[in-house]
Amino acid sequence: MCGIVGYIGQQSLLDILLQGLKRLEYRGYDSSGAAWIEPGEALRVVRAVGEVRHLESKVSETDCYAGAGIAHTRWATHGSPTEENAHPHTDQSGKIAIVHNGIVENHDALRETMLSHGVRFTSETDSEVVAQLIGYYYSHNHGFEESVRKTVQKIEGAFGLAVLCLDEPDKLIAARRGSSMIIGIGAAEHIIASDMAAIVQHTSRVVHLDDNEIAVFADGGFHTSTFDRQHVDKEIEVVDMEVQEMELGHFEHYMLKEIHEQPRCLHDTLSGRIDLRNGRARIAGLEELHREIAKVRQIVMLGCGTAWHAGMIGQYLIEELARIPCDIQYSSEFRYRNPLVREGTLAIVVSQSGETADTLAAMEEVRLRGATCFGIINTVGSRISRETDAGVYLRAGQEVGVASTKAFTAQVALLAVLAAELGRRRHLSMDRCASFLEELHVIPEKLERILGKASAIRELTSRFVDHDHWLYLGRGVNFPVALEGALKLKEISYIHAEGMPAAEMKHGPIALIEPGMPVVFVAPRDHLHQKVLANIQEVTGRGGEVIAICTEGDRRMRELTDHIIEIPETEPMLSPILSVVPLQLMAYEAALLRGHNVDKPRNLAKSVTVE
Ligand code: G6P
Repeated sequence: MCGIVGYIGQQSLLDILLQGLKRLEYRGYDSSGAAWIEPGEALRVVRAVGEVRHLESKVSETDCYAGAGIAHTRWATHGSPTEENAHPHTDQSGKIAIVHNGIVENHDALRETMLSHGVRFTSETDSEVVAQLIGYYYSHNHGFEESVRKTVQKIEGAFGLAVLCLDEPDKLIAARRGSSMIIGIGAAEHIIASDMAAIVQHTSRVVHLDDNEIAVFADGGFHTSTFDRQHVDKEIEVVDMEVQEMELGHFEHYMLKEIHEQPRCLHDTLSGRIDLRNGRARIAGLEELHREIAKVRQIVMLGCGTAWHAGMIGQYLIEELARIPCDIQYSSEFRYRNPLVREGTLAIVVSQSGETADTLAAMEEVRLRGATCFGIINTVGSRISRETDAGVYLRAGQEVGVASTKAFTAQVALLAVLAAELGRRRHLSMDRCASFLEELHVIPEKLERILGKASAIRELTSRFVDHDHWLYLGRGVNFPVALEGALKLKEISYIHAEGMPAAEMKHGPIALIEPGMPVVFVAPRDHLHQKVLANIQEVTGRGGEVIAICTEGDRRMRELTDHIIEIPETEPMLSPILSVVPLQLMAYEAALLRGHNVDKPRNLAKSVTVE
């Protein structure tokens, strides 16, 4: 999704802006641009369609001045991805330049009013309205800051904004409502961004702008206030994020790097959080909700995409271990459903980015109806993490690959810990809980063994990569893994894939099976294994080619298909953490073999901050 970078200070402005944009590329975008004020007092705006390198080549002739500048990566919502629609946008006088994240919901009405004042628009975007409105006030003798304040109070919807004014070249203004805006504090310089990734190489000292706040940067410092001018004291936070998290190292792609990071991430996720001796989990956020947790009668899980799949595994885990009724809901559906939320409801909000607009809205809806909200979030300081009643961080490190991998396994691991602890506080015995957690504790080593099979997985994938339709099947806790496997394949290789419960196949999808069609079974040994073997025969009997993810030493599986990827034996409820890994690698290899850009899949965004 869209990304903002702004800088004010004495270093080479364009270098910093472009570096920042490159750090934000992972979020997904289709055009980019930058604006700055040249010493000769001209406002320069350069925009380009496609990758940031296109913008870079357009500005390569430009000297890198110090001063103030803003830049943006745009993911098209209103208007196609053209140069005219790319940010920064300027007002009619050419004195004001803005970059905007979010959506201006009343842009039609504002545009009409501006048109009636004789303002001419040059783009199809909702964002241009913001530039024109600031410019309109400015041209009516309101100062720069005042014009921004007046504008933000007129706009409905969500925004993160950064604004420049030609007449005040040493000033930068940022504002936010509902869209992330972080201020990085350096030595007499400031870098603002919608995402820590653009800040981390400059400083670890940051301030999070909150909703309805404005920051004005000038004279080497900044002050923050509410839209209606109340001064706000902001606390400086020191973030623990390494630049290396954003580097590829020796890997060819971020996705591959992140797949291989999973053993270490899981180790970090679990570290200090499981007490094997007492069969307990130690999650500080749970302690904060001690009273509410004791009264929980129902759990609702909220998430989107991969987080939704992890949530579904959490649903199986919680019902099995904690015996609490648990429902997984798509955030985007839940928020508009007029849901019934009973007393004693705990909402578990799962989100890697902590920014997903639908999940945020669903959380607000469930909270309005009396639920307590617990977050399972990766991005420290993100909006959702700040707005839940309590929660736990994944500690998976920055996830750059658009196709989520390490966040998924970390989410499942944390949901397992949570389910076990909720169980312990109800009916789960110390022994049963301890042996479950013991198994979780050794999962990172087992995962390492699967990563060692990467070349065999590549070879297997190459045999089927030319097929345009794949099915992914599983039962019980393996069903969400099938969904996740299909999603991974779709996301980056653009192969059509569907995931479903294996037994549902006979209610329709079996009609699709024809000789040679790849059908992936997620089938580690569990109480449903015999039934899955029967489902496999239904496919092979019709000429389908079964690729099975199965437990090491499954002889019966070897008799049924030649295409198997074995995973180490584990507690069946934990097998998703292992069985998803070959599916991640298969999707990665399929995308490479089909010649696609794994880390920048078409049309996708890493954080979906609009509806
Ligand atoms: C986007 C990403 C997915 C992700 C989903 C939910 O669609 O491309 O990888 O699973 O959003 O994101 P979240 O940050 O809330 O987990």
